[in-house]
Amino acid sequence: MKRHTSQRALGTPRSAIRELLKLTEKPEIISFAGGLPDPETFPHEELAEIAADELRGHYRNVLQYGLSEGSRTLRRAVIDWLRTQGLDLSLNQVLVTTASQQGLDLLAKAFLDPGDVIFCGLPTYLGAIQSFSLFQADKIGVPLQEDGMDLDVLEEQIAEARRVDKVLKAIYVIPDFQNPAGITMSLEKRKRLLEIARQEDLLIFEDNPYSQLRFAGEAVPTLKSMDENGRVIMLFTLSKVLSAGLRLAFLIAQEDLIEILLRMKQASDLCTSKLTQHLAARYIKDYGMEDHLRILRERYRAKRDAMIAALEKYMPTKEGITWTRPDGGLFLWVRLPEGIDTEEMFPRALEHKVAYVSGSAFYVDGGGKNTMRLSFSVNSEDEIEEGIKRLCQVVREELAAKRVGLTVA
Ligand SMILES: Cc1ncc(COP(=O)(O)O)c(C=O)c1O
Repeated sequence: MKRHTSQRALGTPRSAIRELLKLTEKPEIISFAGGLPDPETFPHEELAEIAADELRGHYRNVLQYGLSEGSRTLRRAVIDWLRTQGLDLSLNQVLVTTASQQGLDLLAKAFLDPGDVIFCGLPTYLGAIQSFSLFQADKIGVPLQEDGMDLDVLEEQIAEARRVDKVLKAIYVIPDFQNPAGITMSLEKRKRLLEIARQEDLLIFEDNPYSQLRFAGEAVPTLKSMDENGRVIMLFTLSKVLSAGLRLAFLIAQEDLIEILLRMKQASDLCTSKLTQHLAARYIKDYGMEDHLRILRERYRAKRDAMIAALEKYMPTKEGITWTRPDGGLFLWVRLPEGIDTEEMFPRALEHKVAYVSGSAFYVDGGGKNTMRLSFSVNSEDEIEEGIKRLCQVVREELAAKRVGLTVA
Protein backbone atom coordinates (compact mmCIF):
# COMPACT_ATOMS: atom_id res chain seq x y z
CA MET A 1 0.00 0.00 0.00
CA LYS A 2 3.04 2.25 0.34
CA ARG A 3 2.79 3.33 -3.31
CA HIS A 4 -0.71 4.59 -2.64
CA THR A 5 0.14 6.43 0.54
CA SER A 6 0.89 10.15 0.37
CA GLN A 7 4.30 11.49 1.34
CA ARG A 8 2.47 13.47 3.99
CA ALA A 9 1.00 10.37 5.60
CA LEU A 10 4.27 8.45 5.31
CA GLY A 11 6.07 11.27 7.09
CA THR A 12 3.61 11.41 9.98
CA PRO A 13 4.57 9.09 12.85
CA ARG A 14 2.03 7.65 15.26
CA SER A 15 1.87 9.67 18.44
CA ALA A 16 4.39 8.12 20.84
CA ILE A 17 2.35 9.44 23.74
CA ARG A 18 -0.90 7.86 22.62
CA GLU A 19 0.93 4.55 22.29
CA LEU A 20 2.40 4.92 25.77
CA LEU A 21 -0.91 5.94 27.26
CA LYS A 22 -2.33 2.58 26.28
CA LEU A 23 0.22 0.94 28.59
CA THR A 24 -0.73 3.18 31.46
CA GLU A 25 -4.44 2.44 31.38
CA LYS A 26 -4.16 -0.57 33.71
CA PRO A 27 -5.96 0.21 36.97
CA GLU A 28 -2.98 -0.65 39.20
CA ILE A 29 -0.89 2.07 37.54
CA ILE A 30 -1.04 5.60 38.91
CA SER A 31 -0.68 7.62 35.76
CA PHE A 32 0.44 11.23 35.59
CA ALA A 33 0.78 10.83 31.84
CA GLY A 34 -2.52 11.93 30.31
CA GLY A 35 -3.53 15.55 29.90
CA LEU A 36 -7.19 14.87 30.57
CA PRO A 37 -9.40 17.16 32.63
CA ASP A 38 -10.82 15.72 35.85
CA PRO A 39 -14.15 14.07 34.87
CA GLU A 40 -15.62 15.11 38.24
CA THR A 41 -15.50 18.69 36.92
CA PHE A 42 -17.91 17.97 34.05
CA PRO A 43 -21.31 19.52 34.83
CA HIS A 44 -23.06 16.33 33.72
CA GLU A 45 -26.41 16.82 35.46
CA GLU A 46 -26.91 20.27 33.98
CA LEU A 47 -25.80 19.07 30.54
CA ALA A 48 -28.15 16.06 30.77
CA GLU A 49 -31.12 18.34 31.42
CA ILE A 50 -30.18 20.69 28.61
CA ALA A 51 -29.61 17.75 26.24
CA ALA A 52 -33.01 16.24 26.99
CA ASP A 53 -34.69 19.57 26.41
CA GLU A 54 -32.79 20.30 23.18
CA LEU A 55 -33.35 16.82 21.76
CA ARG A 56 -37.05 16.71 22.61
CA GLY A 57 -37.96 20.30 21.91
CA HIS A 58 -35.54 21.33 19.17
CA TYR A 59 -34.53 18.13 17.38
CA ARG A 60 -35.23 19.59 13.94
CA ASN A 61 -32.60 22.16 14.60
CA VAL A 62 -29.92 20.51 16.76
CA LEU A 63 -29.79 17.24 14.80
CA GLN A 64 -29.36 19.13 11.54
CA TYR A 65 -26.27 20.49 9.74
CA GLY A 66 -25.21 23.90 10.99
CA LEU A 67 -23.30 26.94 9.78
CA SER A 68 -19.61 26.31 9.06
CA GLU A 69 -18.82 29.41 11.11
CA GLY A 70 -20.56 27.83 14.08
CA SER A 71 -23.79 28.54 15.93
CA ARG A 72 -24.48 32.25 16.42
CA THR A 73 -25.77 31.60 19.92
CA LEU A 74 -22.55 29.89 20.95
CA ARG A 75 -20.38 32.53 19.32
CA ARG A 76 -22.34 35.28 21.08
CA ALA A 77 -22.01 33.45 24.39
CA VAL A 78 -18.22 33.22 24.05
CA ILE A 79 -17.96 36.83 22.87
CA ASP A 80 -19.80 37.98 26.04
CA TRP A 81 -17.54 35.80 28.18
CA LEU A 82 -14.32 37.04 26.53
CA ARG A 83 -15.48 40.67 26.85
CA THR A 84 -14.86 40.25 30.58
CA GLN A 85 -11.25 39.35 29.67
CA GLY A 86 -10.62 42.55 27.71
CA LEU A 87 -11.50 41.22 24.26
CA ASP A 88 -14.03 43.09 22.17
CA LEU A 89 -15.02 40.79 19.31
CA SER A 90 -17.58 40.78 16.54
CA LEU A 91 -19.38 37.65 15.38
CA ASN A 92 -17.21 37.38 12.24
CA GLN A 93 -14.03 37.26 14.29
CA VAL A 94 -14.99 33.94 15.84
CA LEU A 95 -14.99 30.54 14.13
CA VAL A 96 -16.20 27.46 16.00
CA THR A 97 -13.96 24.41 15.53
CA THR A 98 -14.18 20.74 16.47
CA ALA A 99 -11.96 21.57 19.45
CA SER A 100 -8.51 23.14 19.30
CA GLN A 101 -6.85 20.22 17.61
CA GLN A 102 -8.93 21.00 14.53
CA GLY A 103 -8.01 24.66 14.99
CA LEU A 104 -4.32 23.72 14.81
CA ASP A 105 -4.97 21.63 11.72
CA LEU A 106 -6.79 24.51 10.03
CA LEU A 107 -3.99 26.95 10.92
CA ALA A 108 -1.41 24.62 9.40
CA LYS A 109 -3.53 24.08 6.28
CA ALA A 110 -4.21 27.77 5.83
CA PHE A 111 -0.78 29.23 6.53
CA LEU A 112 2.01 26.67 6.18
CA ASP A 113 3.50 25.44 2.92
CA PRO A 114 6.20 22.75 2.93
CA GLY A 115 9.43 24.21 4.28
CA ASP A 116 7.83 27.32 5.80
CA VAL A 117 9.17 28.16 9.22
CA ILE A 118 7.11 28.12 12.39
CA PHE A 119 8.83 28.91 15.68
CA CYS A 120 7.68 27.03 18.75
CA GLY A 121 8.75 26.47 22.34
CA LEU A 122 11.27 23.90 23.48
CA PRO A 123 9.27 22.07 24.78
CA THR A 124 5.86 22.55 23.18
CA TYR A 125 2.48 20.81 22.80
CA LEU A 126 2.84 17.53 20.93
CA GLY A 127 -0.46 17.83 19.05
CA ALA A 128 0.73 21.10 17.53
CA ILE A 129 4.00 19.52 16.47
CA GLN A 130 1.97 16.80 14.73
CA SER A 131 -0.27 19.28 12.91
CA PHE A 132 2.64 21.42 11.72
CA SER A 133 4.58 18.31 10.68
CA LEU A 134 1.65 17.05 8.64
CA PHE A 135 2.01 20.12 6.43
CA GLN A 136 5.79 19.66 6.25
CA ALA A 137 6.58 22.93 8.00
CA ASP A 138 10.06 23.57 9.33
CA LYS A 139 9.62 23.74 13.11
CA ILE A 140 12.32 25.74 14.83
CA GLY A 141 12.45 25.29 18.60
CA VAL A 142 13.07 28.22 20.92
CA PRO A 143 14.08 27.40 24.51
CA LEU A 144 11.70 28.35 27.30
CA GLN A 145 12.80 30.29 30.34
CA GLU A 146 10.94 30.72 33.62
CA ASP A 147 8.98 33.64 32.15
CA GLY A 148 8.33 32.17 28.70
CA MET A 149 10.15 31.83 25.39
CA ASP A 150 13.74 33.11 25.24
CA LEU A 151 13.14 36.05 22.91
CA ASP A 152 16.83 36.82 22.41
CA VAL A 153 17.25 33.35 20.97
CA LEU A 154 14.06 33.81 18.91
CA GLU A 155 15.52 36.97 17.35
CA GLU A 156 18.78 35.20 16.57
CA GLN A 157 16.93 32.31 14.99
CA ILE A 158 14.78 34.64 12.92
CA ALA A 159 17.94 36.36 11.63
CA GLU A 160 19.57 33.00 10.89
CA ALA A 161 16.51 31.66 9.06
CA ARG A 162 16.32 34.85 6.97
CA ARG A 163 20.01 34.53 6.13
CA VAL A 164 19.33 31.13 4.51
CA ASP A 165 16.28 32.51 2.67
CA LYS A 166 13.64 30.60 4.60
CA VAL A 167 10.01 31.69 4.40
CA LEU A 168 9.01 32.70 7.93
CA LYS A 169 5.35 32.46 8.79
CA ALA A 170 4.42 32.23 12.44
CA ILE A 171 5.28 31.82 16.10
CA TYR A 172 3.30 29.23 18.08
CA VAL A 173 2.97 29.91 21.81
CA ILE A 174 0.93 28.70 24.77
CA PRO A 175 1.38 31.74 27.02
CA ASP A 176 -0.54 30.54 30.09
CA PHE A 177 0.48 27.43 32.05
CA GLN A 178 2.09 25.99 28.99
CA ASN A 179 1.57 22.37 28.02
CA PRO A 180 3.89 20.65 28.88
CA ALA A 181 6.04 22.88 31.11
CA GLY A 182 3.40 24.75 33.16
CA ILE A 183 5.23 28.03 32.43
CA THR A 184 3.48 31.40 31.98
CA MET A 185 4.83 34.14 29.72
CA SER A 186 5.38 37.48 31.50
CA LEU A 187 3.64 40.66 30.39
CA GLU A 188 6.96 42.19 29.29
CA LYS A 189 7.67 39.21 27.08
CA ARG A 190 4.17 39.27 25.61
CA LYS A 191 4.67 42.91 24.60
CA ARG A 192 8.09 42.18 23.13
CA LEU A 193 6.80 39.13 21.27
CA LEU A 194 4.07 41.25 19.65
CA GLU A 195 6.70 43.79 18.65
CA ILE A 196 8.95 41.11 17.14
CA ALA A 197 6.00 39.70 15.19
CA ARG A 198 5.19 43.18 13.88
CA GLN A 199 8.76 43.95 12.87
CA GLU A 200 9.27 40.56 11.25
CA ASP A 201 5.80 40.35 9.69
CA LEU A 202 4.90 37.08 11.42
CA LEU A 203 1.61 35.68 12.64
CA ILE A 204 1.26 34.55 16.24
CA PHE A 205 -0.75 31.41 17.00
CA GLU A 206 -1.78 31.86 20.65
CA ASP A 207 -3.01 28.54 21.99
CA ASN A 208 -5.05 29.23 25.10
CA PRO A 209 -6.62 26.17 26.76
CA TYR A 210 -5.57 26.99 30.32
CA SER A 211 -5.75 30.75 31.06
CA GLN A 212 -9.13 30.30 32.78
CA LEU A 213 -7.59 27.74 35.12
CA ARG A 214 -5.45 30.21 37.08
CA PHE A 215 -5.54 29.34 40.77
CA ALA A 216 -2.72 31.57 42.05
CA GLY A 217 -1.07 34.88 41.13
CA GLU A 218 -2.26 37.69 38.87
CA ALA A 219 -3.83 37.13 35.44
CA VAL A 220 -1.75 38.34 32.50
CA PRO A 221 -3.65 39.73 29.47
CA THR A 222 -3.86 37.47 26.44
CA LEU A 223 -1.73 38.35 23.41
CA LYS A 224 -4.95 38.66 21.45
CA SER A 225 -6.25 41.37 23.78
CA MET A 226 -3.02 43.37 23.17
CA ASP A 227 -2.92 42.72 19.43
CA GLU A 228 -2.98 46.08 17.65
CA ASN A 229 -2.28 44.96 14.13
CA GLY A 230 -4.28 41.79 13.72
CA ARG A 231 -1.40 39.30 13.82
CA VAL A 232 -2.65 37.10 16.61
CA ILE A 233 -4.91 34.13 16.05
CA MET A 234 -6.12 32.74 19.36
CA LEU A 235 -7.31 29.18 19.92
CA PHE A 236 -9.70 29.01 22.86
CA THR A 237 -11.05 25.58 23.78
CA LEU A 238 -13.83 24.45 26.10
CA SER A 239 -12.10 21.08 26.62
CA LYS A 240 -10.45 21.88 29.94
CA VAL A 241 -13.10 24.21 31.34
CA LEU A 242 -16.37 22.51 30.40
CA SER A 243 -15.94 19.12 28.71
CA ALA A 244 -13.33 17.62 26.41
CA GLY A 245 -15.93 15.29 24.90
CA LEU A 246 -18.07 18.11 23.53
CA ARG A 247 -15.13 18.82 21.16
CA LEU A 248 -15.63 22.58 20.98
CA ALA A 249 -13.20 25.45 20.57
CA PHE A 250 -12.94 28.83 18.88
CA LEU A 251 -10.48 30.40 16.49
CA ILE A 252 -10.40 34.11 17.21
CA ALA A 253 -8.81 36.48 14.71
CA GLN A 254 -9.50 39.43 12.49
CA GLU A 255 -12.12 38.87 9.81
CA ASP A 256 -9.87 38.37 6.77
CA LEU A 257 -7.95 35.61 8.55
CA ILE A 258 -11.16 33.97 9.76
CA GLU A 259 -12.42 34.04 6.18
CA ILE A 260 -9.42 31.94 5.06
CA LEU A 261 -9.78 29.56 7.99
CA LEU A 262 -13.48 29.17 7.27
CA ARG A 263 -12.69 27.83 3.80
CA MET A 264 -10.35 25.26 5.36
CA LYS A 265 -13.03 24.33 7.87
CA GLN A 266 -15.65 23.78 5.17
CA ALA A 267 -13.35 21.40 3.33
CA SER A 268 -12.55 19.56 6.57
CA ASP A 269 -15.91 18.79 8.14
CA LEU A 270 -18.58 21.22 6.87
CA CYS A 271 -19.54 22.13 10.42
CA THR A 272 -19.02 21.24 14.05
CA SER A 273 -21.77 19.22 15.77
CA LYS A 274 -24.73 21.49 16.26
CA LEU A 275 -25.95 19.45 19.20
CA THR A 276 -22.81 19.94 21.27
CA GLN A 277 -22.67 23.62 20.32
CA HIS A 278 -26.19 24.08 21.64
CA LEU A 279 -25.40 22.23 24.85
CA ALA A 280 -22.41 24.46 25.51
CA ALA A 281 -24.20 27.69 24.54
CA ARG A 282 -27.11 26.94 26.84
CA TYR A 283 -24.83 25.92 29.68
CA ILE A 284 -22.83 29.15 29.42
CA LYS A 285 -25.99 31.28 29.14
CA ASP A 286 -28.09 29.53 31.79
CA TYR A 287 -25.43 28.84 34.40
CA GLY A 288 -22.55 31.23 33.57
CA MET A 289 -18.93 30.08 33.75
CA GLU A 290 -17.72 31.91 36.85
CA ASP A 291 -19.08 29.62 39.60
CA HIS A 292 -18.09 26.56 37.64
CA LEU A 293 -14.56 27.89 37.07
CA ARG A 294 -14.20 28.74 40.75
CA ILE A 295 -14.83 25.09 41.64
CA LEU A 296 -12.35 23.88 39.00
CA ARG A 297 -9.63 26.24 40.18
CA GLU A 298 -10.00 25.14 43.80
CA ARG A 299 -9.90 21.52 42.80
CA TYR A 300 -6.81 21.84 40.64
CA ARG A 301 -5.00 24.04 43.16
CA ALA A 302 -5.43 21.36 45.84
CA LYS A 303 -4.07 18.74 43.46
CA ARG A 304 -1.11 20.87 42.44
CA ASP A 305 -0.35 21.49 46.12
CA ALA A 306 -0.52 17.75 46.81
CA MET A 307 1.91 17.02 43.98
CA ILE A 308 4.39 19.69 45.01
CA ALA A 309 4.22 18.62 48.68
CA ALA A 310 4.90 15.01 47.67
CA LEU A 311 7.81 15.99 45.41
CA GLU A 312 9.31 18.02 48.26
CA LYS A 313 8.88 15.09 50.62
CA TYR A 314 10.08 12.19 48.47
CA MET A 315 12.32 13.46 45.67
CA PRO A 316 16.00 12.78 46.30
CA THR A 317 17.94 15.96 46.92
CA LYS A 318 20.43 16.20 44.16
CA GLU A 319 21.81 18.97 42.03
CA GLY A 320 20.04 19.06 38.68
CA ILE A 321 16.63 17.92 39.95
CA THR A 322 14.04 20.69 39.66
CA TRP A 323 10.33 21.08 38.99
CA THR A 324 8.08 23.96 38.01
CA ARG A 325 5.44 25.40 40.33
CA PRO A 326 2.61 26.36 37.96
CA ASP A 327 0.02 28.97 39.00
CA GLY A 328 -2.64 27.22 36.93
CA GLY A 329 -3.31 24.60 34.29
CA LEU A 330 -2.84 20.87 34.68
CA PHE A 331 0.88 20.14 34.42
CA LEU A 332 4.20 20.44 36.07
CA TRP A 333 7.55 19.74 34.56
CA VAL A 334 10.39 17.84 36.18
CA ARG A 335 14.01 18.08 35.16
CA LEU A 336 16.44 15.34 36.21
CA PRO A 337 20.23 15.46 36.04
CA GLU A 338 21.90 15.19 32.63
CA GLY A 339 22.64 11.56 31.89
CA ILE A 340 19.18 10.37 32.91
CA ASP A 341 16.92 9.51 29.99
CA THR A 342 13.28 9.43 31.09
CA GLU A 343 12.31 7.35 28.07
CA GLU A 344 14.80 4.67 29.10
CA MET A 345 13.56 5.00 32.68
CA PHE A 346 9.95 4.38 31.66
CA PRO A 347 9.94 0.53 31.97
CA ARG A 348 11.24 0.93 35.52
CA ALA A 349 8.36 3.33 36.22
CA LEU A 350 5.86 0.78 34.90
CA GLU A 351 7.41 -1.85 37.17
CA HIS A 352 6.75 0.48 40.07
CA LYS A 353 3.21 1.08 38.72
CA VAL A 354 3.52 4.75 37.98
CA ALA A 355 3.56 6.60 34.64
CA TYR A 356 4.54 9.97 33.21
CA VAL A 357 5.28 11.36 29.77
CA SER A 358 8.89 11.59 28.79
CA GLY A 359 9.77 15.20 27.96
CA SER A 360 11.56 14.43 24.69
CA ALA A 361 8.16 13.92 23.01
CA PHE A 362 7.66 17.67 23.32
CA TYR A 363 10.97 18.74 21.77
CA VAL A 364 11.21 19.39 18.05
CA ASP A 365 15.02 19.18 18.20
CA GLY A 366 15.41 15.78 19.88
CA GLY A 367 16.34 17.34 23.25
CA GLY A 368 14.67 17.15 26.66
CA LYS A 369 15.74 13.58 27.37
CA ASN A 370 16.18 14.25 31.07
CA THR A 371 12.73 15.82 31.53
CA MET A 372 9.19 14.59 32.12
CA ARG A 373 5.66 15.98 32.24
CA LEU A 374 3.43 15.19 35.19
CA SER A 375 -0.27 15.92 35.11
CA PHE A 376 -1.98 16.48 38.45
CA SER A 377 -5.50 16.69 37.02
CA VAL A 378 -7.21 13.30 37.28
CA ASN A 379 -5.81 11.56 40.35
CA SER A 380 -7.05 12.11 43.90
CA GLU A 381 -4.71 13.81 46.36
CA ASP A 382 -3.96 10.44 48.03
CA GLU A 383 -3.16 8.85 44.67
CA ILE A 384 -0.92 11.80 43.85
CA GLU A 385 1.06 11.31 47.06
CA GLU A 386 1.39 7.54 46.50
CA GLY A 387 2.25 7.98 42.78
CA ILE A 388 4.93 10.57 43.48
CA LYS A 389 6.37 8.37 46.22
CA ARG A 390 6.68 5.56 43.64
CA LEU A 391 8.09 7.88 41.01
CA CYS A 392 10.73 9.22 43.36
CA GLN A 393 11.83 5.66 44.12
CA VAL A 394 12.11 5.09 40.36
CA VAL A 395 14.29 8.20 40.06
CA ARG A 396 16.41 7.11 43.02
CA GLU A 397 17.02 3.68 41.46
CA GLU A 398 17.76 5.18 38.06
CA LEU A 399 20.26 7.63 39.49
CA ALA A 400 22.01 4.75 41.23
CA ALA A 401 21.91 2.54 38.12
CA LYS A 402 23.39 5.32 36.01
CA ARG A 403 25.82 6.16 38.80
CA VAL A 404 24.64 9.73 38.88
CA GLY A 405 25.84 10.08 42.47
CA LEU A 406 23.17 8.48 44.66
CA THR A 407 22.72 5.14 46.37
CA VAL A 408 19.39 3.35 46.56
CA ALA A 409 17.62 4.11 49.84
C1 LIG B 1 -1.82 23.43 24.30
C2 LIG B 1 -2.94 22.58 23.81
N1 LIG B 1 -3.49 22.85 22.62
C3 LIG B 1 -4.49 22.13 22.14
C4 LIG B 1 -5.01 21.05 22.84
C5 LIG B 1 -6.12 20.24 22.21
O1 LIG B 1 -7.28 20.45 22.90
P1 LIG B 1 -8.72 20.14 22.29
O2 LIG B 1 -8.55 19.61 20.92
O3 LIG B 1 -9.35 19.19 23.21
O4 LIG B 1 -9.40 21.47 22.30
C6 LIG B 1 -4.47 20.71 24.08
C7 LIG B 1 -4.95 19.55 24.82
O5 LIG B 1 -4.37 19.06 25.74
C8 LIG B 1 -3.41 21.51 24.59
O6 LIG B 1 -2.84 21.26 25.77
